[in-house]
Amino acid sequence: MTTASHTHQARPALDFVVRKDDLHRYQFVEASVHAESPLAEGQILIRIDQFAFTSNNVTYAAFGETMHYWDFFPTSEGWGRIPVWGFGDVMQSRNDAIQAGQRYYGYFPMSDYVLMQPDRINENGFVDAAAHRQPLHPLYNQYLATAHDPGYIAARENEIALLRPLFMTSFMIDDFLDDNQFFGAGTVILSSASSKTAYGLAFLLAQRGLDQCEVIGLTSPANVAFTKGLGCYHRVIAYDQIESLSAERPVVYVDMSGNAKVRSTLHHHFHDNMKYSCAVGGTHWDQREGEGQLPGARPALFFAPAQIKKRAAEWGMAGVMSRYAAAWKKFLPSLGSWMSIIHDRGPRAVERVYVDMLEGRSRPEQGHILSMSE
Ligand SMILES: NC(=O)c1ccc[n+]([C@@H]2O[C@H](COP(=O)([O-])OP(=O)(O)OC[C@H]3O[C@@H](n4cnc5c(N)ncnc54)[C@H](OP(=O)(O)O)[C@@H]3O)[C@@H](O)[C@H]2O)c1
Repeated sequence: MTTASHTHQARPALDFVVRKDDLHRYQFVEASVHAESPLAEGQILIRIDQFAFTSNNVTYAAFGETMHYWDFFPTSEGWGRIPVWGFGDVMQSRNDAIQAGQRYYGYFPMSDYVLMQPDRINENGFVDAAAHRQPLHPLYNQYLATAHDPGYIAARENEIALLRPLFMTSFMIDDFLDDNQFFGAGTVILSSASSKTAYGLAFLLAQRGLDQCEVIGLTSPANVAFTKGLGCYHRVIAYDQIESLSAERPVVYVDMSGNAKVRSTLHHHFHDNMKYSCAVGGTHWDQREGEGQLPGARPALFFAPAQIKKRAAEWGMAGVMSRYAAAWKKFLPSLGSWMSIIHDRGPRAVERVYVDMLEGRSRPEQGHILSMSE
């Protein structure tokens, strides 16, 4: 068994939990896993050092039941722990292949500590083989060792935690649209165009040039100026201006907002010219209800792992990853021109950022990094 030294915190170890049926009810509870938790043979104890918090994490909560996001880090009945992407350090290890002090990137709960059962360990990382995680998508059970991850840059941990999981989706949608010749459309419309995932996609689409596709961003009136300033949308309009767009051209809709009214307005406006419509996100998580049969292409759920699987069969997984790495390398420097990183610490700050994100008060130019410890 190996252990790493750390500063002892004055308070007990905590979990941040939210009511599954009412995301406005949340609390910190004393955690069952703490710095001195006994480990079974093969287990490791990770202290979660810092994690990103974006609208994506609220979406995990909003779709927690249907998409099984609550199942990763179970807690008491009726409550859930929201998964987040970030970095953690091994504090104790009863696994011969992993030493205390190693740092990993991956999917964590909003907690001080987490216990894991590493399997398939190599220098690049491990898979958490805890029984309750086995039915869940393997993508989320993978932890990468920062010491050997070619995508890791110590000075860019914040950007990695914030954008890396989102940009993979942006990358796969861009590839999926190209793979399908943009469904015969020359225009791609994105909702929640101010979001980081939409930005990643618009960044990639813009590189294809206007002759391959025009990129139109839809956003809230308050975010129009910011979204225009990102410089990768050919046009940005507010949600209430959809009808000002010419309906004569075939379009594709990539929906990051999950807003039923916006989707319905678009489909009725473009009618048969809506050539493809896919749901990617749900930033407007409380505006999902209320659409009937829609004209145009039937809305589909975009599932990035399906496109990854297809490309892995064609290019090999190494081919997918090297293309993704090349795109990420180009993308990363672009963040510096608009994103400001805000690093907050301690339970009160975690709670404040959560509520602001839930209630739509966060600013799109901010990238929130949180640490549970003060
Ligand atoms: N399916 C997948 O695999 C996958 C992968 C990655 C991301 N996504 C989804 O993509 C979406 C964007 O995620 P992100 O992390 O990139 O978002 P983000 O950068 O945090 O997005 C911020 C923007 O989302 C909108 N927004 C956020 N909270 C809101 C609220 N409470 N009410 C109304 N609007 C709100 C606003 O945009 P506007 O004013 O422009 O509407 C805001 O500027 C999420 O729903 C996420 O789950 C899905």
